Amino acid sequence: MNVLVVGNGGREHALAWSLSRSEAIERVICAPGNGGTATLSKCENRAVGVEDFAGIRQIAKDEAIALVVVGPEVPLALGLADDLRAHDIKVFGPGRSGARLEASKGWAKELMAEARVPTARGAVFEDPQAAKDYIQKTPVVLKADGLAAGKGVMVASTGEMAHEAIEAIARGDFGSGNCRIVVEEFLLGQEASILALTDGQTIRPLIPAQDHKPIGESDSGQNTGGMGAYAPTPVVTPELAGRIQGEILEPTLATLQKRGIDYRGVIYAGLMISPEGDPKVLEFNCRFGDPETQPILSLLETPLEELLLACCDRRLAEMPPIQWKPGVSVCVVLVSGGYPGSYEKGKVITGIEAAEATGAVVFHGGTRRENGQLLTDGGRVLGVTAAGEDVKSAIVNAYRAVDCINFEGMYCRRDIGFRIRSL
Ligand code: AMP
Ligand code: GLY
Repeated sequence: MNVLVVGNGGREHALAWSLSRSEAIERVICAPGNGGTATLSKCENRAVGVEDFAGIRQIAKDEAIALVVVGPEVPLALGLADDLRAHDIKVFGPGRSGARLEASKGWAKELMAEARVPTARGAVFEDPQAAKDYIQKTPVVLKADGLAAGKGVMVASTGEMAHEAIEAIARGDFGSGNCRIVVEEFLLGQEASILALTDGQTIRPLIPAQDHKPIGESDSGQNTGGMGAYAPTPVVTPELAGRIQGEILEPTLATLQKRGIDYRGVIYAGLMISPEGDPKVLEFNCRFGDPETQPILSLLETPLEELLLACCDRRLAEMPPIQWKPGVSVCVVLVSGGYPGSYEKGKVITGIEAAEATGAVVFHGGTRRENGQLLTDGGRVLGVTAAGEDVKSAIVNAYRAVDCINFEGMYCRRDIGFRIRSL
């Protein structure tokens, strides 16, 4: 069968890579894809943007696409999955109503309250003064209600910082056209990302991952889309995984059902695990995580399309248990100098072959090919992903591959996986 992957990041390269490894897949088309998917075997890019619904539909028809996998949140929030389903095209990803889980943090908070899903205490405000008046103590967390590419969350350690953050959100600095403000208690603990597949009736988690959002080592500095991740994380013990299933994933799905939402895709729960071991939801996303998808899929044994098709066809309950390779996989993200602020593009990248010769897989995030050269084309450029028998050896293997790669201004965190060493 032929499949279509929508998106152009590291997550989409990992989805295309995983799908292309299956014997059942003849061709993987990416819209628009990147410099990595351009040369992946069985794979080809089409210059169609993620918001070009008509263009995506056209590819699906012309290429007899059996399954469309939507990577990013923006087209899901705009209703791409609804549009494709209305044209009888099979698609993995929720419709616009389900995508609100990510597209409106306020809506997600209300749903969690109804579902009795544990989350940080907080409230949603239209009026900035009311948000300021609500704050009793710091640190406190301020979030823009709408989509903000991972950048709309601020932890304020003083009242003054909190007021500045509220004003920035109210001004619309986070670009979603929605100026509602979520004020939340600050939670301490270890973070974990649970990516769960659902067909709207059954929900099954993939192996738990841990992301590293801040740009600087030891989690310092501004938040980014994600600087590295590893999976599985021992932060989520089998006992905790059982609680997450019963206290978070199942009630969330049941509440979506109660609201008449037919959700077929990924429910991504970003969790904080308290020092006492209790999980609380920090955020929901309506898609695979980036970079969590890279290490997770690098260990997946079950053919990915079988799982995704089972979600589309509401057969997830009939699927045998998901099979995983043993060991741990680590992904280190290499970014352009200046990211998450402004950065230059078009730098020549070298050393990817040498990196892959060590056994790592290099997923491209922001790259393009021009005149036979591979150039940087975004903030998060590459995700160097390597496995090992445990976290420590996977970290060593990943950095061995990282050290083969170079481009002007390249930066990466050298401490991916560091929190685990303190466990
Ligand atoms: P989010 O996009 O909501 O996951 O937030 C991005 C990052 O901000 C999370 O990965 C956490 O590191 C941090 N964060 C969000 N909400 C909270 C909270 N209530 N307490 C502490 N940290 C938080
Ligand atoms: N890695 C965080 C995200 O995908 O939202």
